[in-house]
Amino acid sequence: MRFLAEYLAERRKLNLYREPVVYEPVDATHVRADGRICLVLAANNYLGLTHHPAVMAAAAQAVNAYGAGAGGSRLTTGTHPVHSALEQEIAAFKQAEAAVLYNTGYMANVGIISAVADANTVIFSDELNHASIIDGCRLSRARVAVYRHADMEHLRQLLRTEPCGGLRLIVTDGVFSMDGDIAPLDQIVELAEEYEAMVMVDDAHAAGVIGDGGRGTVSHFGLNGRVHIQMGTLSKSLAAEGGYAAGSRQLIEFLINKSRGYIFSTAQAPATIAAARAALGVLRRQPELVAKLRANAALMRQKLRRAGLKVEGEDTAILPVLTGSPEVALAMANQLKKDGLIVAAIRPPTVPDGASRLRLTVSAAHDAAELSEAAVKIIKAGRRLKLC
Ligand SMILES: Cc1ncc(COP(=O)(O)O)c(C=O)c1O
Repeated sequence: MRFLAEYLAERRKLNLYREPVVYEPVDATHVRADGRICLVLAANNYLGLTHHPAVMAAAAQAVNAYGAGAGGSRLTTGTHPVHSALEQEIAAFKQAEAAVLYNTGYMANVGIISAVADANTVIFSDELNHASIIDGCRLSRARVAVYRHADMEHLRQLLRTEPCGGLRLIVTDGVFSMDGDIAPLDQIVELAEEYEAMVMVDDAHAAGVIGDGGRGTVSHFGLNGRVHIQMGTLSKSLAAEGGYAAGSRQLIEFLINKSRGYIFSTAQAPATIAAARAALGVLRRQPELVAKLRANAALMRQKLRRAGLKVEGEDTAILPVLTGSPEVALAMANQLKKDGLIVAAIRPPTVPDGASRLRLTVSAAHDAAELSEAAVKIIKAGRRLKLC
């Protein structure tokens, strides 16, 4: 099995070797790492709800009431009252007729796309779409026409020229996970209507962040009723774990009957679902959390840009600081860890060669003073590495 050793040696040589690091959560924005408390600027816990008392209590109550696991797949014995209730609440939140849960956001993308698309489909996919979208496209056996990132002229050209005897499906991240920018969904929908295509948006990083009360990209652009599939996760703003599709009742019935990621997997544990329900409840009752998140992100973006760091994205909680090489990304992340900050060094294959970066994220649970203090450390490390 020499190929195993060769692959790992190559990864190490290229500074691309990866391994999970253990962080012990202390609260929504701090972890204990190497024996000290650090501030986390790398989580997707955008609203800080992982440690909200109501969310934690809901999970604990669900374990006590229903047990640890669901015990079956959704179409056998695994659908409990909490699963159906959350599906209805997500549908209402996304202003859709119905919704269906998947065990993760990854499984949602793979399960939705491979159910809807087949070998007669052409999928039009943004080049920076998430890996789970790419894997769903591959599994579907559809032809995939990749358009340049957010380039509507290129998308139009492909819609015009790609021969297609079946469905055309346009799929995009709503907020791009490594770039922090918002897809031009309004223009995508116009093109889709002109070329009779179906539209799917991945709101993993948009729900709880953009749109009215954090409802996501469709709400952000006022496109209610014009986007066929709104995919999302429970794992980021909703502080739990899982994915979903929201859309017409017919679409959801279709997925329940056809989507293998939904059919052939054990349902999510009741505690997970209860936590997500409680988090969604907090978001509905306290939309000011979304405003706080966005104010925190704007503050951080402004401070880093003013110092001359190259920060991508706009109006979202993801702030990529470009470093170019993986070595610089790693050196900066390591330096910041010594300074008590946890940030993510993102390297190929997650981003293209030459586009390594620090992916900073902020949360509604950060306070302005600690963000300002963190910005000073980031700028200092950036200067040392000649990034600004
Ligand atoms: C855009 C996007 N879609 C889907 C996923 C997968 O979601 P999950 O982590 O819930 O599996 C992610 C998560 O990393 C993501 O960034």
